[in-house]
Amino acid sequence: APGAQNFIPPGAASLAALRAAATGCRGCELHRAASQTVFGRGDATARLVFVGEQPGDLEDQKGLPFVGPAGRLLRRAVDDVGLDPAHIYLTNAVKHFRFELRGRRRIHQTPDQVHVTACRPWLVAEFAHLNPQIVVVLGATAAKALLGPGFRVTRQRGELLPWPDAAQRPDDFRQVPVDSAGRTADAPPARLLATIHPSAVLRADNQEVAYQGLVADLTVAARALT
Ligand code: URA
Ligand code: SF4
Repeated sequence: APGAQNFIPPGAASLAALRAAATGCRGCELHRAASQTVFGRGDATARLVFVGEQPGDLEDQKGLPFVGPAGRLLRRAVDDVGLDPAHIYLTNAVKHFRFELRGRRRIHQTPDQVHVTACRPWLVAEFAHLNPQIVVVLGATAAKALLGPGFRVTRQRGELLPWPDAAQRPDDFRQVPVDSAGRTADAPPARLLATIHPSAVLRADNQEVAYQGLVADLTVAARALT
């Protein structure tokens, strides 16, 4: 079957082990045209984790997520809500850059549901090594990866949502011991908040208004951190 599942080492002991294994993923077609797998990065102990869509052109070249303009804008917004951009973890729903060639230019293409589904096992495996209080999903692709295809960011952005049912199944992101009431011993389950993608802020007709919308949503997340 297609998908990343066959490339994930059983009992992957660390994020570093996952990152190393992900370099060889061929779980969908996207690895063929892209330069390299772009795995998550940042503070694995962070209370705040961001999930984007997929690496962009620059991320594909550097092998690191959010190193381009969208990443810069995101870190500025994190800083503006009073949080330290060094203490976040950043990853993507899809870990290879999908693009269309126009002449020599590589034009971003939104990943399809088939790519999101194929790549989701990496996200699941990654979350098993993270322990966030809040997971911020950036844009529709990331939101659909975690909340299902029916989710509309425009309708529910900026709302603190319970950890989705899909994440309670055996492929639970947080493979931590739970007590008989279904609660983890040490920490409540993560909550989730959807917002606009920083790339959409950069494309907006009124960038300042779009940016303030992002900051308003991140303020909700920041206030919910303990
Ligand atoms: N946009 C994303 O969604 N992810 C990145 O890593 C960069 C830009
Ligand atoms: Fe594997 Fe994801 Fe890359 Fe597809 S996009 S090849 S599933 S890492």
